[in-house]
Amino acid sequence: MEINHNNELLPSVNSLTNMDDYEQTYKDFNWEDVERHFTWYETGKCNMAYEAIDQHVEAGRGDKIALIYSDAKREESYTFRQLRDKSNQFGNVLRKQGIGKGDRVFIFMARSPELYICLLGILKIGAVVGPLFEAFMETAVKDRLVDSSAVALITTPQLLGRISKSETPDLKHIIVVGELENPDDSVISYHAEMEVASEELELEWLNRDDGLIIHYTSGSTGKPKGVYHVQNAMIQHYFSGKVVLDLRDDDVYWCTADPGWVTGTSYGIFAPWLHGVTNVIRGGRFSPQDWYSTIAKYKVTVWYSAPTAFRMLMGAGDEVISQYDLSSLRHVLSVGEPLNPEVVRWGYKTYGQRIHDTWWMTETGAQMICNYPGMGIKPGSMGRPLPGIEATIKDDKGNTVPPYTMGNLAIKAPWPSMMNRIWNNPDKYEEYFRVQGWYISGDSAYMDDEGYFWFQGRIDDVINSSGERIGPFEVESKLLEHPAVAEAGVIGKPDAIRGEIIKAFISLREGYVESPELKEDIYRFVKEGLSAHAAPREIEFKEKLPKTRSGKIMRRVLKAWELNLPTGDLSTIED
Ligand code: PRX
Repeated sequence: MEINHNNELLPSVNSLTNMDDYEQTYKDFNWEDVERHFTWYETGKCNMAYEAIDQHVEAGRGDKIALIYSDAKREESYTFRQLRDKSNQFGNVLRKQGIGKGDRVFIFMARSPELYICLLGILKIGAVVGPLFEAFMETAVKDRLVDSSAVALITTPQLLGRISKSETPDLKHIIVVGELENPDDSVISYHAEMEVASEELELEWLNRDDGLIIHYTSGSTGKPKGVYHVQNAMIQHYFSGKVVLDLRDDDVYWCTADPGWVTGTSYGIFAPWLHGVTNVIRGGRFSPQDWYSTIAKYKVTVWYSAPTAFRMLMGAGDEVISQYDLSSLRHVLSVGEPLNPEVVRWGYKTYGQRIHDTWWMTETGAQMICNYPGMGIKPGSMGRPLPGIEATIKDDKGNTVPPYTMGNLAIKAPWPSMMNRIWNNPDKYEEYFRVQGWYISGDSAYMDDEGYFWFQGRIDDVINSSGERIGPFEVESKLLEHPAVAEAGVIGKPDAIRGEIIKAFISLREGYVESPELKEDIYRFVKEGLSAHAAPREIEFKEKLPKTRSGKIMRRVLKAWELNLPTGDLSTIED
């Protein structure tokens, strides 16, 4: 395929001015040097919550602000000592229920200080945390709880109705944060239990390969998969926090991602707190005014966000910017989807900041290919592999291809934060490593002759809408539950703001006729049954959908229809 390469370069900002300096700095890099930072390098026993919170208290930084939380109703801050004590209490609340090491404990709630306290408390007793995005509806929640055999769930009164207790037999404990209108014995009150829980807790010391977190994410086939990470990931969280986020002691850091997604934990919780920096969490919804005022009010210095947000901010115009003092910003980063070169140029012009694109995935656990302080930024490129990470482009046979050739973006395995398994699904895990010694990402990309990587697209049918990863199968399965739907095929349709939106092609059952009301009804059905971000914003009815002889809907053909492209090889089509 023809590659249209752009050679623009924004020079680096800090002391390292060119690639030679950069290469020199990391010439002798090895991960063991990073491990020496942790006490467990000597003791052999670790715990992420200890490294992120308690050790700062022990080191005399207990009074430093760890968390600034705000939304339309609340504004609170917590020191490292307060977070240590409260998470100890919550660890005790869980232990009282007999929950312990290795148990899967899920959190299903909107951002709030309690979410962070609960998450740390879960980790302190060695349980594995499973964060769920608040927009999930009943089916999405149930699938994840069942697959992971979660024993406990922490949620809020608003979301309690989305948990189907009869279909989640392993779920023994539901802890509710907030007042219930009709208190009921089958759930545990967070506030009542916290009131009587001790602040002293014997921490569960773990091995590096003991569990940390499960994030459910989507592939092109099957239900969402549970990407399971272990304690060892902290090595890379810490290191990337240093070289990519460039975190320093007096930073005020804001990652805009929700902990329901991997960015919101690896970089919304672990990396900043491993560095002991003040972490800003802003609840509620996006608006340019709200976000700019968050930066101005808390004097945010390092800001990690996503292309859809930057595109919306760009769309809101530069006049909004002039109403806020954004001069505290020192470093701005982006992740989750392709960052358009014009957005990088706009950021440079308006904030005077280079927006640093970073590439990684739920499976990689931490940043892998990035633009970071110390290297020149090429707008449109994801950057270069982190020290200690080897990335390359491979053809479908597993051979490395020369620069400027498009192929499979592959990473040499293992690395410290690599997923440890796909929960309950060893075959899925093996698929990623089908080329001996390499992790095949599912993204296509090329490398230029200076070792910068350029994202080209997904190889599979996974959809990326506003940086949220959506598996077409999950949406199609939900659509098929609608009484009017006979067949459904779902694709990502290019969109200027969201990157992609979800489009569904649907054939109707006998007796149903297409209408705007029916479209609306189907949209709502997915929105209310699965989640808002998975609902098809566009629906097109078709008499018949293209299928293989084995009955599999050919999304590739749907996509070609949509984009007016040639449909390619149709030899396997049904008729
Ligand atoms: O396709 C790539 C895209 O997001 C996918 C990973 O999604 P998820 O596991 O949800 O993790 C997102 C945040 C870590 C990748 O396979 N992606 C991620 N970062 C970038 C990107 N696409 C282009 N440029 C990026 N910087």
